[in-house]
Amino acid sequence: MAERRIAVFGAGYIGLVTGACLAELGHHVTVRDIDPERVRILLAGDVPIHEPGLGDMIARNKERLTFTQDLDRTLTGAEIAYVCVDTPPSASGDADLTRVWAVIRSLAAAPDHELRAVAMKSTVPVGTGARARVLLDEIGLSHVGYVSNPEFTAEGRAITDFLAPDRIVIGQDDDTAGALVAALHTGIDAPVATMDVKSAEMVKLASNALLATKISFANEIATLCENTGANVTEVLGAVGMDHRLGAHFLRPGIGWGGSCFPKDSEALRQMASNTGFHPQLLTAVINVNNIQKRRAIQHLKDELGDLAGRHVALLGMAFKPGTDDMREAPSTVLAGRLLAEGAHVRAWDPLARPAAGEPWDSVTRFPTPLHALAGADAAVIVTEWPELAELDWTEACTGMRTPILFDGRNLLDPTRLREIGFRYTSVGRP
Ligand SMILES: NC(=O)c1ccc[n+]([C@@H]2O[C@H](COP(=O)([O-])OP(=O)(O)OC[C@H]3O[C@@H](n4cnc5c(N)ncnc54)[C@H](O)[C@@H]3O)[C@@H](O)[C@H]2O)c1
Repeated sequence: MAERRIAVFGAGYIGLVTGACLAELGHHVTVRDIDPERVRILLAGDVPIHEPGLGDMIARNKERLTFTQDLDRTLTGAEIAYVCVDTPPSASGDADLTRVWAVIRSLAAAPDHELRAVAMKSTVPVGTGARARVLLDEIGLSHVGYVSNPEFTAEGRAITDFLAPDRIVIGQDDDTAGALVAALHTGIDAPVATMDVKSAEMVKLASNALLATKISFANEIATLCENTGANVTEVLGAVGMDHRLGAHFLRPGIGWGGSCFPKDSEALRQMASNTGFHPQLLTAVINVNNIQKRRAIQHLKDELGDLAGRHVALLGMAFKPGTDDMREAPSTVLAGRLLAEGAHVRAWDPLARPAAGEPWDSVTRFPTPLHALAGADAAVIVTEWPELAELDWTEACTGMRTPILFDGRNLLDPTRLREIGFRYTSVGRP
């Protein structure tokens, strides 16, 4: 395999995983971030995010993997530039591409004719590649090919996903740059789906939208199960046995969150609206999810009546287990709603680091689930951390003021919890 010199822009979840995995595959990688603190942590040998296996992989590849804030160092010798910067929602709901354009403009500083391709890993609207092409031409980089190489990894298992993906998508304008980027993945056993840039951009958005659709569908079926007495676990378990449908992402819960589904589904909806098309299904999928996040509050009100002055424990804050990522976590909506109802909110999470400000400044954090539950009037399982599956729920029950538990992830066995003494409800299970 040809070893390449790669510049990665952005040392976040995707940039660090991409950089580390490309180094693991034998390439020489420089990761640049504009956040000095992030670079300082990396240079000190630490990892600024939680991702299983990432720290070890970075340490193992330190000969081939460097971190810097310096643009010239990043670009010197680089043949391929990977764009891995954040593309958050803008005020209009469109993806904010400010950081993407900043990176592409900065490539003008690349030494003459060393850079051969730009590979886009950030999730971007369809048409971004075409705009990037114009910009590259304007800054004198007409010889640099543009490749859309979207990322499908899931946080918490990103290293495994990167090195053993279901497919590698290459969107290319010209065969040379596409082949160059595809060849970086030599050593990974996965089909390569090669297509035009716009289609590759759409693959990423469509994939996330379909995953979100499956979860919202599961949540609607769960509500129907609650209203009719059916058991959603049995129902969707058997539905998922149909090979035409598949079992993945057919689990109800407290609503989807995270750094991708909310932002990408909204960006896709906005992108569609910009073309004059108002997508009905996607809009319903987003609405179902917004309602789902609030249903836990109704369950608590059914049990407690007025929530003012009640102490409610949120068990789990991260949007899913295995990550510290709090972006668009359902726990934030729950905490905000509970505070608005006048409740006292307490929370436990082994990793999550919420942003400063409300609602989390008004939430009391506890070091263990049992501490968070002691004296609480009710609790909600928000994130299905293994620690909660293994918790001594008998001790938890004894410590609570009223043993009301809403299991937003269907993590626990209803019969067992009721035998212990809990007033236990979950999602779509009688
Ligand atoms: N997180 C995921 O699970 C995931 C999965 C697939 C795709 N994506 C997409 O990948 C992109 C990155 O996501 P993320 O979760 O890694 O974001 P992140 O916020 O964790 O990291 C982005 C990093 O880019 C840095 N940055 C911003 N401008 C820069 C610049 N001009 N030069 C260098 N660095 C710069 C930021 O300081 C930050 O450290 C997004 O478009 C996201 O939608 C994310």
